[in-house]
Amino acid sequence: MSHTPTDTLHRPLKDLRISVTDRCNFRCPYCMPAEIFGEKYVFLPKTEILTFEEIVRLARLFVRLGAEKIRVTGGEPLLRRELETLIARLARIEGVKDLTLTTNGYLLPRNARALKEAGLHRITVSVDTLDEEAFKQMNGRGYGVDRVLEGIRKAEEAGFHPIKINAVVKKGINDHTLVDLAGYFHGTGHILRFIEYMDVGTRNAWELDHVVPAAEIVQRIHAVLPLEPIQPNYTGEVARRYRYLDGGGEIGIIASVTRPFCRDCTRARLSTDGKLYTCLFACQGTSLRDAMRAGADDAELLDLIRSVWTRREDRYSELRTAHTERAGRLPKIEMYQIGG
Ligand code: GTP
Ligand code: 5AD
Ligand code: SF4
Ligand code: SF4
Repeated sequence: MSHTPTDTLHRPLKDLRISVTDRCNFRCPYCMPAEIFGEKYVFLPKTEILTFEEIVRLARLFVRLGAEKIRVTGGEPLLRRELETLIARLARIEGVKDLTLTTNGYLLPRNARALKEAGLHRITVSVDTLDEEAFKQMNGRGYGVDRVLEGIRKAEEAGFHPIKINAVVKKGINDHTLVDLAGYFHGTGHILRFIEYMDVGTRNAWELDHVVPAAEIVQRIHAVLPLEPIQPNYTGEVARRYRYLDGGGEIGIIASVTRPFCRDCTRARLSTDGKLYTCLFACQGTSLRDAMRAGADDAELLDLIRSVWTRREDRYSELRTAHTERAGRLPKIEMYQIGG
């Protein structure tokens, strides 16, 4: 392995999140509101998007610099054509200990088996609520939740286990349905994680009032299905873990707003058009694609990535928690461009 860089806060580069498309079949108002991402919205043209060859080449370089975990995201990654081919190639990179994907699940009934066969290790499916009306509202397209649940079943049948389920909690929209969601996955072995609604991007009109604090989420579930906290699986794990006292499994809480976890953040993000971002809330990335297409060799690309990482000083969530009132004014990239 090449020398592993650490950033200005001594954080190594351990995870790579790759966005394989900026498109999505959902229009979650907190991410890609339909009024902005309508019929006329122009997504990236094909020539701007990294090819599989380019993605695999960069992934290899990130692994040489210390990345052990790769997460494929979007947009909605299952919209990228022949995604299994890419997964198979990423799975073959030596040094990749964990290869996983985050999806909204809508296309999983069709794709789960192929993804497993291609060598994907794990899968995370977003399900914000089981309430049909709230679900329709939250995906912005009026889609029902059954097909996503069917996708989860198909993923199970294909051999993914446990599956992680991500639920963003937005006050007044789906917070009344948390206990139902917990009940549904209780005893299944799958790991439901509740995510505090974050101020990502600039288009979701975020306000602190929309956030249900992690402590309250835990309290509400604990009141019906008693819980106790358990140790993290690894340093820097984003979710705090809780176990059901009755043996029904575990849940996680991702408290990016009330308990930010920047101190241990080892995540690099590669956008659909090949820019390297060092924070989910970054406003500027460094184009690895342009360097690559201008003929940079591997050594030059490694130097470029290393130089970006060693200069990294991001800790946006921590700063925002300290200065919540100023947050709305900080410029940011949109989440669908660089993946959750
Ligand atoms: P595992 O690999 O299964 O442990 O997944 P993970 O805990 O890394 O979680 P995942 O990648 O599924 O992320 C879950 C959610 O946490 C994302 O959708 C985001 O909402 C949030 N999240 C993940 N990474 C970051 C991050 O670097 N910063 C912030 N602020 N939020 C993050
Ligand atoms: N706050 C928290 N999580 C978000 N996600 C998208 N937007 C936000 C937000 N504003 C989550 C999705 C999915 C993952 C890709 O990112 O729900 O689980
Ligand atoms: Fe699509 Fe995920 Fe964004 Fe929803 S949160 S619009 S499913 S990328
Ligand atoms: Fe990492 Fe930025 Fe999220 Fe903090 S806000 S955890 S630095 S991605």
